[in-house]
Formats: sequence, structure tokens, C-alpha cells
Amino acid sequence: MFRILIVVAFLVTVVSCNSLLQTSELPFSDVVANEDVMGKWSRSCALCHVSGVADAPLVGDSDEWERRLAQGEAVVIRNVLEGLNSMPPLGYCMSCEISDYRAMIGFMAGTNERQSHQ
Ligand code: HEC
Repeated sequence: MFRILIVVAFLVTVVSCNSLLQTSELPFSDVVANEDVMGKWSRSCALCHVSGVADAPLVGDSDEWERRLAQGEAVVIRNVLEGLNSMPPLGYCMSCEISDYRAMIGFMAGTNERQSHQ
């Protein structure tokens, strides 16, 4: 009986922590799009994500991004690395790190901050 109580208490803790994380943090909101990231973004991603070539989700189209981010960060990142339909693998950015992609997506979706050096 005591063991069951411990298991139940553990499950309740895990579930409540999960929902806390989901409500308090937007996807990709923990990364800042600094000048370095924005430079790479302009050279690689802007081409399609500003014009909407082949239905690329547009910068700042928050409804469209919300729908895509609902897949979860891991799936979205995988789609960038592997490509998705007309979205080229790595988004044509050979020098981008995962942290760069995370900041770029947060910028396009409007979930993180953009920071420029003064
Ligand atoms: C050649 C055009 C092109 C370039 C360059 C490009 N994208 Fe895309 N991207 C697309 C298209 C088209 C889609 C929509 C794919 C679909 O859903 O069919 C897309 C979708 C995405 C998505 C959503 C994936 C999902 O899971 O729904 C992300 C994130 C993304 N691009 C990030 C980037 C980043 C970051 C870069 C630059 C490093 C980049 N893209 C460069 C065309 C491009």
C-alpha cells in the first residue's frame, strides 16, 4: 500500500511539472537572436521565409508558426536538419549550429527576443 502511494505521488509530481513547463515557456523562447544569428538567417533563410516561396511559413505569421511549433521543438528541428518537402536540409546553412536554428525559429515565430549589439 505504501509503495503504491509513493508511485502515485511521483506520478503527480511528474505530471504537474510537465504542465508547468508547457504553460510557462513558449517554444524556442530561451534563445536570443543576436547579430551573428541574424546574419546567417539573412544569408540562408530569408530568401524563402520572407517571400513565402513554395509556401514557406512567413516571418511573423504567428498563427502558422503556432501550428508548426505544436509538433514540438524536436520534430521542428529534425525537419530543418533533414528538410521537409521544398524546405532544403539545413536550410542551406552549412555553418549553422543547433543553437542558431533554435534562435532563428524563435525569431520567425516571434517567441524569443531579437538582440543587436549597440
Ligand atoms: C529554398 C527555400 C527555403 C530556405 C532557404 C529555407 N526554408 Fe525553411 N521552409 C521552406 C518551406 C517551403 C517550408 C514549408 C515546408 C512544408 O511544410 O512543406 C519551410 C519550413 C520551415 C520550418 C517549419 C518546419 C516544420 O516542422 O513545420 C522551419 C522551422 C524552417 N523552415 C526553418 C528554416 C531555417 C532556420 C532556414 C535557414 C537556416 C530555412 N528554413 C531556409 C523553405 C525554405
